[in-house]
Amino acid sequence: MEQREKFSSRIGFILISVGCAVGLGNVWRFPYIAGAYGGAAFVLIYLIFLAILGLPIMVMELAVGRSSQRSAARSFHVLEPKGSKWHLTGYLAVAGNYLLMMFYTTVGGWMLIYIKKMALGEFSGKTAEEAGTIFNAMLASPSSMMGGMLVVVVLGFLVCSVGLQKGVERITKWMMGLLFVILVVLCIRSMTLPGAAEGLAFYLVPDFGKIVECGVGEVIFAAMGQAFFTLSLGIGAMAIFGSYIDKSRRLTGEAVHICVLDTVVAFLAGLIIFPACTAFGVSPGQGPGLVFVTLPNIFNQMSAGRLWGVLFFIFMSFAALSTIIAVFENIISFSADLWHWGRKKASWINGVAVAVLSIPCALGFNILSWAQPLGAGSTIQDLEDFIISNNLLPLGSLLYLLFCTSRRGWGWKKFQAEADEGAGFAFPAWARGYVTYVLPVIVLIILVMGYWQKFA
Ligand code: TRP
Repeated sequence: MEQREKFSSRIGFILISVGCAVGLGNVWRFPYIAGAYGGAAFVLIYLIFLAILGLPIMVMELAVGRSSQRSAARSFHVLEPKGSKWHLTGYLAVAGNYLLMMFYTTVGGWMLIYIKKMALGEFSGKTAEEAGTIFNAMLASPSSMMGGMLVVVVLGFLVCSVGLQKGVERITKWMMGLLFVILVVLCIRSMTLPGAAEGLAFYLVPDFGKIVECGVGEVIFAAMGQAFFTLSLGIGAMAIFGSYIDKSRRLTGEAVHICVLDTVVAFLAGLIIFPACTAFGVSPGQGPGLVFVTLPNIFNQMSAGRLWGVLFFIFMSFAALSTIIAVFENIISFSADLWHWGRKKASWINGVAVAVLSIPCALGFNILSWAQPLGAGSTIQDLEDFIISNNLLPLGSLLYLLFCTSRRGWGWKKFQAEADEGAGFAFPAWARGYVTYVLPVIVLIILVMGYWQKFA
């Protein structure tokens, strides 16, 4: 077998996997969902699903990647029993990675644009309403939206084109390191604001009455969905990093590291946002606009708010870019596996392809806003997000799950042998019954509930 390029260090592997997992899901989606579903009680349920739902599936993805030494485009071909059709899952994963980038690059662009807006003081002295107007004006401008998206795509593929170790690993290590530093600084600033305690209580002291208010089923479903999304599961995005490591460590331990760090980032993002909201008397339950409309207004009222605002959006940009680079790396490795393209060629061609594919989302807020695929007021981005978050991620996770537990797939024995090779702690043998019979049902329920919620 040809020699596959590897990460230079274990810490590189962990930070890149964390970089892939830590993204808009942690810093944007998690806080507003937690805010909308009542705070601490939601957070508790979410933590449980991370452990019982996300963790085992992550181990499975890593095992498939490491054993096959291939990206998702080819890993099933290598591992499946002869004559079976599991490899179709691989094409689903390929499609999923492109689709995810079709809307993620646009939001990544917003973050970069917001660094600039903050630095130029565009929000200074503006009311919340005016901050909303600025956000909407950005959405309405085709040139801003295309510009932001293109910068993100070019940056991402540039980093990947340099190489796995010198480009992806080196840059991501830096970004993640800085991200943690900025995160801690912002946390301290926010938690020491006068009036922060109320926000901390909302975020940290569970009030199960709030869950009943929101509807128990709906809260549980939101927590499950968020657990999938934040860990980047279901489309082989984690599997690729499994293919870049050796067998010196057991995979369960590595997955625990990744899950814990991902959770720490999401949790700390909440510690920035909720205290700041209550300190300045803003409701944290306002949905997706939280970061783009509510927060600029908060920075506005802080001393040296422009500086804090710039730092905050640099932090958000790093989170988004590290995910984008990780997925681009995945996309490049698909081309290498499928057509044996070199890294440079794959970067160029995929760069152009992803830029073109991202256009509908970027223009969906202005020129193409007549297209409202999911009902009045919805956008192309909503549709793409729905296809990914409610369909491909749970479906792909289900297929990985069945592949690793079913005798007609790769099978439990081979999965366990791969997961447990090396040092560290083993995949618990007692969990076999759970992952074989219970977990698939839970994932299936998520799939069905997603449709129910959307269309019923
Ligand atoms: N985990 C990423 C975030 O929190 C988003 C994401 C979801 C993702 N599914 C993915 C990233 C699959 C890569 C691959 O923002």
